[in-house]
Amino acid sequence: MRVPLASSGLRSQDIEAVIEVLQSGNLTMGKKVLEFEKLVASYLGVDHFVMMNSGSSANLAIFEAMLRPSKGEPLLRRGDGVLVPAIAWPTTIWPVVQLGLVPIFVDVDRESLALDLVAAAEAIRNANCPVRAIFPIHPLGRALDSSALLKFADDNQLTYISDVCESLGSFENKKHAGASGLAGSFSFYFSHHITTMEGGGVATNSLEFADDLRSIRSHGWSRDRSDVAEWTHDVSGTDAKFLFVTTGYNVRPMEIQAAIGINQIRDIDSFVKKRRNIALSVIEAIDGTDLTVVGVNSKELSYENSANSWMLIPIRVTGENAKVRKKKILETLEARGVETRPVLTGNFLSQPAMNRIDGNHRPASDFPVATEITDTCFLVGAHHDLSEKQIKHLCESLQEAQH
Ligand SMILES: Cc1ncc(COP(=O)(O)O)c(C=O)c1O
Repeated sequence: MRVPLASSGLRSQDIEAVIEVLQSGNLTMGKKVLEFEKLVASYLGVDHFVMMNSGSSANLAIFEAMLRPSKGEPLLRRGDGVLVPAIAWPTTIWPVVQLGLVPIFVDVDRESLALDLVAAAEAIRNANCPVRAIFPIHPLGRALDSSALLKFADDNQLTYISDVCESLGSFENKKHAGASGLAGSFSFYFSHHITTMEGGGVATNSLEFADDLRSIRSHGWSRDRSDVAEWTHDVSGTDAKFLFVTTGYNVRPMEIQAAIGINQIRDIDSFVKKRRNIALSVIEAIDGTDLTVVGVNSKELSYENSANSWMLIPIRVTGENAKVRKKKILETLEARGVETRPVLTGNFLSQPAMNRIDGNHRPASDFPVATEITDTCFLVGAHHDLSEKQIKHLCESLQEAQH
């Protein structure tokens, strides 16, 4: 039996919605995208959601908008530092590098797996450039403590933005991850909580920022902005349909993606509920063994104040020789058809791609917690499509793998 990390997540009603769009002839970004954006904004409890073709594009657009706003002063300038976690996804880091900013890596917390604020304060003190933003990841379906992050940002005069690509459906103090700070990026890649096949977007409560994101995702165009009339008035004589007010890319989503998303977001509560039940089964199954689900404590599993949406389940091998034993455990799991993977990319400073970027980055060994997590932890699936039989097999395999 196979227990995959992910499944396509597409249901027959999603495929029917795609066919309907294809038959309508309205293919590029239009009404469906707008409808999906409204549904996501309302679900997240934010004023605006700007859909894009991926979570990576959402991250890119956030930094572009901070560097080159259409109005007012930029929040970031070339050469400014941005605090990022040492365990990260590549496209959390690459937009920072690609747009001439400096990633200031910060070690992560052993239990939350997210950027550690004590280490962040030290990183600011040691940085040789002005540090002006903090960009943590809410990892694997875990919402970070937004009040602590906002206070830290405030105390250090940073803009707080966050990468929520792994954590749609997670809440902290009844507030959705990514609903605080200037902006949060989301991904709807197929293995995530909802799918639009590929897809993502940015949540924000700032109309100005949302307007700039709408321009940036579409060549820098003024068309989709709330203030389009204002711009048209300023540049009299130019065809209003061809005004470009910011730098931009083409990272627009398609109508078929939004049509799937509209169906999927309506069912997110049931998807998340299923994922929580899978995680609870795994927690129970490995209780009292040398394996433990990382960061499990009563707060994290409470449904009232803080809710984890479990993109995947992080498991730590505890005790002596954990690194060596982890290798054997993974071999057993894979032999039983249980797919596993590292925690995101592991310590990102160890990735060969880091040798290709300019700047004096600290070596991977300067981030001991990220290294310990890389060595002793791994992920298994929590996808809402797993059957009862697959969940049972996953639990039994985890028990079996330790012998
Ligand atoms: C933390 C994080 N950021 C960004 C991304 C990129 O999202 P996408 O695959 O939609 O480009 C991912 C992808 O899984 C991710 O895990």
